[in-house]
Amino acid sequence: MINVDGQSLEILRKRTSAKWTTAPSDVLPMPVAEMDFEIDPAIKARLHALVDSSDTGYAGNNSELRMNLAAYAKGAWNWELDPEQVYTCGDVGVGMVEVGRAVTKPGEKVMINTPVYLNMRNWANRLNLEVVDAQMIKNGMHYTLDFDAIEAGYKSGVKAHFLCNPHNPTGTVFTQQELSRLADLAKQYGVIVLSDEIHAPITYDKSAFHPFLNVSENAREVGICVTSASKAWNLAGLKCAQIITQHEKMKAIVEAMPMAVRFGASNFGVHAGAVAFTCTDWLEGAMATLDRNRKFLATELAEKLPQVNYRVPDCSYLAWLDVTALDLGEDPSKTILERGKLLVSNGILFGPQSQNFVRLNFGTSAQIISQGVDRLALAAKK
Ligand SMILES: Cc1ncc(COP(=O)(O)O)c(C=O)c1O
Repeated sequence: MINVDGQSLEILRKRTSAKWTTAPSDVLPMPVAEMDFEIDPAIKARLHALVDSSDTGYAGNNSELRMNLAAYAKGAWNWELDPEQVYTCGDVGVGMVEVGRAVTKPGEKVMINTPVYLNMRNWANRLNLEVVDAQMIKNGMHYTLDFDAIEAGYKSGVKAHFLCNPHNPTGTVFTQQELSRLADLAKQYGVIVLSDEIHAPITYDKSAFHPFLNVSENAREVGICVTSASKAWNLAGLKCAQIITQHEKMKAIVEAMPMAVRFGASNFGVHAGAVAFTCTDWLEGAMATLDRNRKFLATELAEKLPQVNYRVPDCSYLAWLDVTALDLGEDPSKTILERGKLLVSNGILFGPQSQNFVRLNFGTSAQIISQGVDRLALAAKK
């Protein structure tokens, strides 16, 4: 297995990406979802080749990307998707907004399930949609979909559902039964489900993840998937995501979208994504490290800050921490930054009930995780 691990702080501080340039240099940044790993050498080589041949024009034929994505989906999830129904766009956010625009009118209702990736609400706001929040059911630190709330929302006239599958920041991976039940409800009430599957390849138990469009015929009839290699292979800045349909009705919706949406993807992103979907050895190495990290964080917290509630997530590298017992005031993330010089994501942005939560990124080295917990402990000291 390839060893993929977090780089040293000295190297990371030279990065110019958002994670490493948002805060002053005495702050340890553990917010935005970028990983501190080196990317796969095959992706680097492809990008170098593009630059070396001045191949810096608009994105062209994306058939390699579509074929490689289909092969990856078959290998990872036994999903046989039709590559002819894979369309590119600039990033997942653009894909969700543009598909959302195609299936709703301003003033109509969209469902989200908080606490959830903060841009789900921003996307709805950009489309002038009314947000119907069917909040997740919280059982200890384990969150699941609330089907009563979902059905009530659907009944009230929801037109589209922004589904985070698997779920960020709670780390929940939905079961086949749950997704299939959701598809049935969506069909019954005429709702279109936009399934954001950007975190799917970073599910720890691969077989636990179910692509929405693979759960049933109803799901294919009501669902559109938006995904990207960008989160799992750390390529967010290269700007390329995929919109996937597997039903004539949904295909017609996406094909009627403006051409500009498809041209929003960069050629670098298209190539990097195409290569990434073949880089399964690298991903296995990264997952082994992330698996150690998610458990190491639990050990560190148990030792240094046992009052913090944390459930080891089933997907991704984002830890959802309940810091209520630390009594950090109105805005815990601000207090943590001021006192501990640690930058984490502010829980309230993910949902109205998460004021005493923060999200911490463990896609890094054990050393940085340990430093992060030390800084959190420092912030907790009065
Ligand atoms: C669930 C989810 N969707 C979308 C994104 C952003 O993706 P993109 O940069 O492709 O818009 C993120 C980033 O963390 C995310 O967690």
